[in-house]
Amino acid sequence: MPIQRRVNVKPTDNNGIEKKIKRGNAHRQASFFKRPPVYLLILIAFVACGAVGWLYFNLDSEITETLVRQGEVIQQPRIFEVKCSEDYDNYKRYPGCTPQTCGRAVTDHVVTHEEARMLRRLAERGLSLAGSDGGASILDLHSGALSMGKQFVNIYRYFGDQIKEVFSEEDFQLYRSVRTRIQGVIAETFGLDQSRMHLTKPTFFSRINSTVAKTTHDEYWHPHIDKVTYGSFDYTSLLYLSDYGSDFGGGRFVFMDTDGNRTVEPRTGRLSFFSSGSENLHRVEKVRWGTRFAITVSFTCDPAHAIVDPALP
Ligand SMILES: *[C@@H]1O[C@H](CO)[C@@H](O)[C@H](O)[C@H]1NC(C)=O
Ligand SMILES: *[C@@H]1O[C@H](CO)[C@@H](O)[C@H](O)[C@H]1NC(C)=O
Repeated sequence: MPIQRRVNVKPTDNNGIEKKIKRGNAHRQASFFKRPPVYLLILIAFVACGAVGWLYFNLDSEITETLVRQGEVIQQPRIFEVKCSEDYDNYKRYPGCTPQTCGRAVTDHVVTHEEARMLRRLAERGLSLAGSDGGASILDLHSGALSMGKQFVNIYRYFGDQIKEVFSEEDFQLYRSVRTRIQGVIAETFGLDQSRMHLTKPTFFSRINSTVAKTTHDEYWHPHIDKVTYGSFDYTSLLYLSDYGSDFGGGRFVFMDTDGNRTVEPRTGRLSFFSSGSENLHRVEKVRWGTRFAITVSFTCDPAHAIVDPALP
């Protein structure tokens, strides 16, 4: 096989080559400022990314650990046990209900995505009737409380029979069905007797956007302990009806432990539940953009604080 010969090799005089090199250098130096070379652009981009990453990391540095990410799908409840606080000692103990083991859990398997969407539409319809001037707006189907401007109105009294044009019997059936399933999964997870747990108030839908709160009761971001805020609570659950990262930014749920802050990222249909004492001090981050919908469903062990399921009047 013949060796291929290089063609087009023209003999050039050395002088000519030198001239070309010099011209080339001069050209490069001149164009350096007009059009920086690619490697410099890459370097700048690299430094910029680093700076943004550093900033992001530092803005997020209050978060020690993400317990559950938005993109994950949790079938069996993911359980995080924490030592019970002494809060429960201040109350009568109810065997089969009062927390013996405490903790938090998350599952995406209690309501379907379609049910979560139906509940979200229910919340949207109800809250579209009014809403607070900023911060969080709430709708409590049980008491009828709905945020309106800087106060609350009772939807059943304020709207009278017209409320039947907003909510249907099916909405309430869905609510009851979801509430029952939530109670079941809490009982199973904490090893309780489901029949000794009772729905308690307040139990409400919330809508939060980035508009600043105008009154203190619309300031949802303060750290709090449910059992301290509402003495009757023993188990708190939150059912998320929108997605962190696509429906809204900020608004993550944060457990504030002495050794760090641990978040749960909301996901449509995700249920997060926990024992309500000081072992679960928590807060919600401020919502930075978009709208966040959720339902809070709470349970007590004390029959004196039981409420019945909400129903259309
Ligand atoms: C936890 O969050 C709080 C308030 O957001 C903050 O003051 C505290 O420094 C955080 N703790 C840790 C360990 O990052
Ligand atoms: C947030 O909701 C309130 C009603 O509660 C509304 O007046 C306001 O325009 C909303 N803000 C944004 C940014 O959508």
